[in-house]
Amino acid sequence: MGERVFYITTPIYYVNADPHIGHAYTTIVADFLARWHRLAGYDTHFLTGTDEHGEKIAQAAQKNNEDPQAFVDRMSARFRDAWKKLNIEYDDFIRTTEQRHKKVVQQVLQKVYEAGDIYFGEYEGLYCVGCERFLTEKELVNGRCPDHGTVPEKRKEGNYFFRMEKYREWLRNYIMENPDFIRPEGYRNEVLSMLSEPVGDLSISRPRKRVPWGIPLPWDEEHVTYVWFDALLNYVSALDYPNGEKFDRYWVHAWHLIGKDILKPHAVFWPTMLKSAGIPIYKCLNVGGFLLGPDGKKMSKSLGNVVDPFALAEKYGPDVVRYYLLRDLPYGQDGAVGEAALVERYNADLANDLGNLLSRTVTMIDKFFGGYIPSPGLPEGPDHELIAQAEMLPDTVESLIRRLELTEALKAIWKFIGRANKYIDETAPWALAKDPSKKERLATVLYNLAEALRIISVHIWPAMPNIPGKIRGQLGISDESLFTWESVKRFGVLPAGLRIGEKKIIFPRIESTVELKTASKEEKSEGKKGSGEKAEFITIDEFAKVDLRVAEVLEASRIEGADKLLKLKVKIGDEERQIVAGIAKHYKPEELVGKKVVVVANLKPAKLRGVESQGMLLAASSKEKVVLVTVEGDIEPGAKVK
Ligand code: MSP
Repeated sequence: MGERVFYITTPIYYVNADPHIGHAYTTIVADFLARWHRLAGYDTHFLTGTDEHGEKIAQAAQKNNEDPQAFVDRMSARFRDAWKKLNIEYDDFIRTTEQRHKKVVQQVLQKVYEAGDIYFGEYEGLYCVGCERFLTEKELVNGRCPDHGTVPEKRKEGNYFFRMEKYREWLRNYIMENPDFIRPEGYRNEVLSMLSEPVGDLSISRPRKRVPWGIPLPWDEEHVTYVWFDALLNYVSALDYPNGEKFDRYWVHAWHLIGKDILKPHAVFWPTMLKSAGIPIYKCLNVGGFLLGPDGKKMSKSLGNVVDPFALAEKYGPDVVRYYLLRDLPYGQDGAVGEAALVERYNADLANDLGNLLSRTVTMIDKFFGGYIPSPGLPEGPDHELIAQAEMLPDTVESLIRRLELTEALKAIWKFIGRANKYIDETAPWALAKDPSKKERLATVLYNLAEALRIISVHIWPAMPNIPGKIRGQLGISDESLFTWESVKRFGVLPAGLRIGEKKIIFPRIESTVELKTASKEEKSEGKKGSGEKAEFITIDEFAKVDLRVAEVLEASRIEGADKLLKLKVKIGDEERQIVAGIAKHYKPEELVGKKVVVVANLKPAKLRGVESQGMLLAASSKEKVVLVTVEGDIEPGAKVK
C-alpha cells in the first residue's frame, strides 16, 4: 500500500447564488471522506472554496447593483456560514479573488504560453453563460443548453487559445491505462467517447473591454483569463504551487469530487492544462449524480420541489441530514431526496436500530449491574459471531470507502447494528437475569453490547460527528484511545467497571405528517381536499375514466437505495410496462412473478426515486398491512376490470 496521504477537494462554488442542496451534498461527501481518512491515520487535507470570477458573477453583481468585489465577499461568506451549519471541517477555503490564487494563475499561464501552447485566434461559437463555456452543436438539445435550458449566445471575438487538442491522444491513453482515474465507470466511458473525436482547442481569454472581472493575462493586459482556466487552478494554488511544502506533500494524492455537469472541464480541460504546464496529474476524479426533488424531477423553484438542506439541518440536526444523504444516495447516481424520505430513514435506522440498541444496553447495565459495565467471561454461542463480525467491520468499511461506495459502507455498519440487536434477542438478557447462576453469562452479554456500541460509535463518526460523543457519554467512556481506528480492530479492549452516564433518548421517534410527494396530479387533488372541499359522490362517468386492467407480473426487483420500492415489469395485453410500487416491505420480488394483479393503466407516468413508473397497482391496506388485489381464474392480462 502507498503512503497514507489524502487530499480531497470539492468544486469551488459559483457565488452568483446561495448554497443549495447540490453544493451541500458534494461537500458532505468530501467531509465524510476527510473525516474517515483522518480517523484512519491518513495525513489529510480537505479543500473547498468559491469561484468568484467570470461573466456569470459579474452579471449577478450588476443585477444586484453591487461592486463585484463587495458582492463576492458577501456571497463567499454565506458559503462558509452554510458549511458551519452542516458541521463541515475543511482545512482550507480558497477564493479565486485571493492574491495567492491570482499569482499562480498568472504563473501557470506564462508557463503554458512559453511552452508554445497558447496562440491568438478568432473564435465563433455558441456560449452558455450558465455553464461559462462554449457548447458544441452535439451537446445542445433542441438548440438549448441541456443543463440551463437557455439558448446559447452566438459569440465571435479574438481570444487566446490553449492547444488542448494536442494532448488528446495522450489523455485518452492515460485514461485507458488508469482504470480508476475517473469513477464511476460510466463517466469514464463518457470521457473516452468525448476523446474519440477531436476536442478542439480551448479559448482561454476574454477581452477585458467586454468582461473586466477576471485575472489579466500576464503577456496581454487587454485580456482576462477565462473563468474555467482560472478556477481549475484553485486545486494547486491552494497548495502554494509550485514550491509549497503542501504541494509536494498532497498534490499527487488529490481526489476531486464533482457533479456530472462539470465533467468535461475536469476530465478534459484540467488534465491537459496540467500536462502542458508540466504538473503531475491528479489521482482521481469522482463524479456524483444529481439530487432530484421528492417527485423525482429536477429541482426548480417553479416546480416548488426544492429541498433546503439548511432548513432540514435546523429542524432535525446536521447529523441526520448528513446521514440521510450519504445513506440514501449511492454516489454517482441521480436520486430523489425529500423530507418524508429523511424521516423514514431516521425512524428506521436511527430511532429504531441504533437508538434501541443503545437504550436497551444502557437500561440493562443500569438495572442488572447497578450502572457499571460488567466484566465479561469467556465467549460462547452467539458471542463468537458477534465478535467475528465486529472484527471484520473496519476492513470491510475501509475498502468500501476507498472505492467510494459510501452507501454500502453505511449499510455494512448498520448490518452490524442489526446483528447486535439480534444478539440481544438471542441471548435474552432479561431471562438470564432471573437465574442467579447465569450472572456471569449476563455480564458477558452486556459487556459485549457495550463494546459493540463503542465500535459502532467510531464507525459512524465521519457521517455523524456529533452522535458518537453522546453514545460514549451514556456508556461512560472518555478515554480517547478507545476511539481510534486501530482500537476498533480488536474486540474486547473496553475496560470493565466504567460507570455509565445518564440515559437519554438520542433519537426520539418522529411521528411525521410529511407525505412523500409523487406525481403533480396527485398533489393537486391533495390540495383540493386540504382547502376544505368535502368528498362527494362521483358519477359513473368519472369512475369510467379510471382504466383498470388485469396485468401479469413478468419480473420484479428491488430498487437500490429505496427500501420500500419494487420495480415490476408487467404485461397488459400485448404491451409491457414498468411499474414502481411501494410494496417491498410486504412482498419479496420472487413471490410476485406470475401473479395477476390489477393496475390503473391510464395514470400519468411519474418517476419514483428517479425510476419511471407507468401505472399503479391496486392493494388493500390497513395499519401496517398491504395486500395486493389479485385476480383468480382464467383471464388474460389486459382484460378490463369494471
Ligand atoms: N464553479 C464551478 C466549479 C468550478 S470547480 C473548479 C461550478 N459551480 S456550481 O456552484 O455551479 O456547482 C458546483 C457543483 O454543484 C457542481 O459539481 C454541480 O454538479 C453541483 N450541483 C449543482 N446542482 C446539483 C444537484 N441538484 N445535485 C447534485 N449536485 C449538483 O460548477
